[in-house]
Amino acid sequence: MLQDKRILLIIGGGIAAYKSLDLIRRLRERGVRVRAVMTRAAAEFITPLSVASLTGEKTYTELFSLTDEAEMGHIRLSREADLVLVVPATADLMASMANGNARDLATTALLATDKPVMIAPSMNVQMWLHPATQRNLRTLEGDGVVRVGPGSGDLACGEVGDGRLADVMDIVGAVETFFSATARATDRPLTGRRALVTAGPTHEAIDPVRYIANRSSGKQGYAIAQALAALGAETTLISGPTTLPDPANVFTVRVESAREMLAACQAALPADVAVCVAAVADWRMADGSPQKIKKNGGGPPSLKLVENPDILATLSARSNDRPGLVIGFAAETQNVVAYAQAKRDKKKCDWIVANDVSPGTGIMGGDDNTVHLVTADAVEDWPPASKSAVAERLARRIADYLKEPAA
Ligand code: C5P
Repeated sequence: MLQDKRILLIIGGGIAAYKSLDLIRRLRERGVRVRAVMTRAAAEFITPLSVASLTGEKTYTELFSLTDEAEMGHIRLSREADLVLVVPATADLMASMANGNARDLATTALLATDKPVMIAPSMNVQMWLHPATQRNLRTLEGDGVVRVGPGSGDLACGEVGDGRLADVMDIVGAVETFFSATARATDRPLTGRRALVTAGPTHEAIDPVRYIANRSSGKQGYAIAQALAALGAETTLISGPTTLPDPANVFTVRVESAREMLAACQAALPADVAVCVAAVADWRMADGSPQKIKKNGGGPPSLKLVENPDILATLSARSNDRPGLVIGFAAETQNVVAYAQAKRDKKKCDWIVANDVSPGTGIMGGDDNTVHLVTADAVEDWPPASKSAVAERLARRIADYLKEPAA
């Protein structure tokens, strides 16, 4: 994930500067191109030469060096990076950054950069806790600077407390998290697309206090809505009763019965893709009782049932506003793929995601899923994965399909 990323590493003048050498090695192992700038104080702790031999590039130290400026102007230096990383961020460097000082090459590059900045503070505990440092920290965080650490423990000065540079691998982890979050934020192939997802069970009223339902948790459908929204789709989730919170960035409509779910789906059209994950109750009461049915000694009531509308089949059969891609789910306890293929033909949807919910698989209501994707001409067996991983993979497939609809 870090392969070919460019980091401008600003090394501050603190005793923890020597740890930046290990950091450079760990970043380089992961394919990062590291270019380093050292403050004058940093060069009292480690030499520019050792930094250069680990980065494989010249180490920059002087703002007014004719050679440095001729090779690489300080503005270019500050811009030719994906991330500016300050390790160790001393109290003095943090103060300069918070105030916008440009006294030397390091602070000038930090002021001139238009790239994200991450700091790993390191200093004596009293310096860290000083109101001035805490004030500077708040300013920097308000400016969008990302922070990793400091940790707590024995400090080089002999005192104990907050102010230890974060572990090198924690800094590498923070860099990885930063880049994966950025990648997610910019990788949105479904921008401009509309998605409709049904999820959860439906409740079919028997009387005002009783209902027919099933064990669907809604987790898979919610994860799919979230994954589609994360790829940029304008997503509507039509959910039966669940205990799950509304997913972020998804327009969630809560319904109770199959008929309400169908009406909400129709109201949400047009859509580029519809994913019917809901475990819709097959039957409802022919005549729901408006009053609670009383147990009055006459034996159990007989419940007359009628079939519910099939939402997946209804959406697949729309003429003018049929979603370009209609996907159904098939939870089966045997002959999973064969039944799914038959279901695809019968309901006239484009894809079926089939899964085995036979007793003992633990899938119904669980967090994992093993699915097969059944399309017009292929069956793909996906390996067991979490419901969110299945959702992300399906959302990617949807994005690929909508980019180039199959002939
Ligand atoms: O027929 P079966 O319930 O096994 O089909 C499952 C698929 O059909 C799921 O995608 C489910 O959301 C959808 N379905 C529906 N409306 C129904 C019954 C099932 O949308 N009434």
